Amino acid sequence: KKKMILDLDTGVDDALAIAYALATPDADLIGIVSSYGNTLVENSAQNSLNLLALLDAPEVPVFLGEAHSSTTDSFETMAISKAIHGENGVGNVDVPKASRSVEKQHAVDFIIEAAHQYQDDLVMVPTGPLTNLAAAFKKDPEIEQLIGNITLMGGALTVPGNVTPYTEANINQDVAAADYVFKHAKHLVMVGLDVTLRTLLTKKETQQWRDLGTEKGRILADIFDYYIDAYYDLDINKNGAALHDPLAVGVAVDPKFVTLLPLNMTVTPDDGRTIGDLDKLKDEHINNYAAIDVDVPFYLERFMNYMIMLLK
Ligand code: BDR
Ligand code: CA
Repeated sequence: KKKMILDLDTGVDDALAIAYALATPDADLIGIVSSYGNTLVENSAQNSLNLLALLDAPEVPVFLGEAHSSTTDSFETMAISKAIHGENGVGNVDVPKASRSVEKQHAVDFIIEAAHQYQDDLVMVPTGPLTNLAAAFKKDPEIEQLIGNITLMGGALTVPGNVTPYTEANINQDVAAADYVFKHAKHLVMVGLDVTLRTLLTKKETQQWRDLGTEKGRILADIFDYYIDAYYDLDINKNGAALHDPLAVGVAVDPKFVTLLPLNMTVTPDDGRTIGDLDKLKDEHINNYAAIDVDVPFYLERFMNYMIMLLK
């Protein structure tokens, strides 16, 4: 069975990535590493701890990762992130505080250790900036060829970005780290805005979680409804909100949800575009794949089955 590490900036949709990873029988969630992005890294870690406890998985360890991008020395949460994810990252909903705290080991060292231990069986799913993973690659370059599968949420190949006309938020947070990971990964699948913006959830579905009558069903519905309202108010989408991060987890264990385009990619240094790497266009060896189409009903059915199973 595959071993999964999530690298999250938790985050409303990151919260659902945790849920999907716990529910899928196809991988064991062996740890969550924390990133800055939707919120500060400490808060992102605390949100992950609280959600794991709420979802009956308090034993999954959470590691603190890098607090800011590899090219800056501090980080402030963007106003747009607060508007979409709430001041606390999880839609301003009170999630009961977990009794456990973060591990002593740093996120980067945990990634390195797990890569050596599980090698091809390790599935890394970053759904925030790629700062932790790039730092791990740089600290121990051997792991670049060990990790069997990196499936990330980030980037935009065939559609515009969501923070600039070209850049998606996770890539934008640390363009240099993203480029490093794209160039050095053994096998990388990009689940970007091309597919995540088409994979929408509405209040019709969150009502089904509410109807379960459980505390966790109510809390997850409250968290996601905040995000649906933000999408509506900010005019991002009036018909629901994107399941960015849980789609990446789904694809990591079952690529059949999407159509993959094999393409060596690069991230442009100035504007963080995820595009084909001109230098490697004729390379026989392709190690990047971009998801360019998604079977939404197929994915949504699986996603909802898992959520209902987990929340009841
Ligand atoms: C990505 O940015 C974050 O806000 C979300 O959690 C998602 O990972 C979407 O661009
Ligand atoms: Ca995220």
